[in-house]
Amino acid sequence: MSKDKLWGGRFTQPTDKFVEEFTASINFDKRLYHQDIRGSIAHATMLGKQGIIPVADVEDIVSGLKTILEQIEAGEFDFSVSLEDIHMNIEARLSEKIGDAGKRLHTGRSRNDQVALDIRLYLRDELVEVSAYIDLLIDAIIHQAEENLGVIMPGFTHLQTAQPILFSHHMMAYHEMLKRDKARMEDCLKRTNVLPLGAGALAGTTFPIDREYVAELLDFDGVTRNSLDSVSDRDFAMEFCAASSILMVHLSRFSEELILWSTSEFKFVELSDSFCTGSSIMPQKKNPDVPELVRGKTGRVNGNLVALLTLMKSLPLAYNKDMQEDKEPLFDTIDTVKGCLKVFADMVREMKINPERMKTAAAAGFSTATDVADYLVRKGIPFRDAHEIVGKTVRYCIENEMDIPALSLAEWQLFSGRIQEDIFESITLEASVNARRATGGTALERVRAEIARAKEGR
Ligand code: ARG
Repeated sequence: MSKDKLWGGRFTQPTDKFVEEFTASINFDKRLYHQDIRGSIAHATMLGKQGIIPVADVEDIVSGLKTILEQIEAGEFDFSVSLEDIHMNIEARLSEKIGDAGKRLHTGRSRNDQVALDIRLYLRDELVEVSAYIDLLIDAIIHQAEENLGVIMPGFTHLQTAQPILFSHHMMAYHEMLKRDKARMEDCLKRTNVLPLGAGALAGTTFPIDREYVAELLDFDGVTRNSLDSVSDRDFAMEFCAASSILMVHLSRFSEELILWSTSEFKFVELSDSFCTGSSIMPQKKNPDVPELVRGKTGRVNGNLVALLTLMKSLPLAYNKDMQEDKEPLFDTIDTVKGCLKVFADMVREMKINPERMKTAAAAGFSTATDVADYLVRKGIPFRDAHEIVGKTVRYCIENEMDIPALSLAEWQLFSGRIQEDIFESITLEASVNARRATGGTALERVRAEIARAKEGR
């Protein structure tokens, strides 16, 4: 007999020990204890208000659940694998404590709508936290952009020097990405913050429950509209994991750049010692472990998304036990993303940049070639012809082992008679940067305005 099981009535054989362990989720879903208790208190309160169970029982249930909450928080609660999951662990303990009143708690409810509720409650709080962590990183980025306003670095395409840009402009590109990441989290919250409780196992309940009241007690924006959907979809979790993957892809690109910029070949930035480690054999090494690890953790967050999508794919309605597998990828994504954002925010805030190295690199690699072409266009030459002229100039420079700024006026005029003395002021790094002043461009005045805008937008 399965006497200890809450569902043991129709069984004659005990559960196989290994199967019990295999099917249990308590080891990972115990993190939902707070949500489970909060949901049960709201459910019991509603049952009492509706006259479905006696009000005296509700009082016992609420105080019993509060005691259990304290015990869990004090580390005094013995979680049992034979009770399978957090829902049955808590309910069984409650009944042990308060008897029949405890056994009335599950009236008009199923673990299927209960678990859907718990995950939504849990994710809802985490979405707010993740957004706050994104803000931390956004602040650090704005801080760097503001502190170093005016520093010029090479902008790259294909990792080849392309055009000079402001370092602050580069930083603010990540600000844009993170703002969108945050907006995705906020958007996901809208669809997460809906009450599924009341769906029962799948079809609803025969009791005269008041779902709107429960939603109010639990601060939900509304109630779900279809019981089958309520217990069987996890799209809100998939959405969070997708938004997290995109966020991590952004962090991985930022990581990659910091790793590259910290090399002795680049030396654009120096990460604080507290974010790096040494080598056990090579004494000179200072390895950028933190960005490397964040880059690596992107793989696991992407993996969690794929795990969740694959888990849900082709599942028939409504609940299936497969769905118990939703929790670990979700929890792992939450933990990983929060950890990465936190460590990244501190690292970015503390990193030192090397303006001289950036400027020297920005001046090399024919970075102002486009500015020469634009100069020629302003002198009346069609852009395609201007492009051709500058191409030839660059070839001349390569053959003579020099860069554009070293050309004399006489040399310039070998390529076009339209080139005058004013070419020199048009191809300084500052002129190149500041000429790009349309919205979204790298001009100093433009970037300064974007930083101010970003600070206001917070
Ligand atoms: N531990 C289960 C889960 O996480 C709770 C729901 C169980 N429902 C059921 N019908 N077996 O999905």
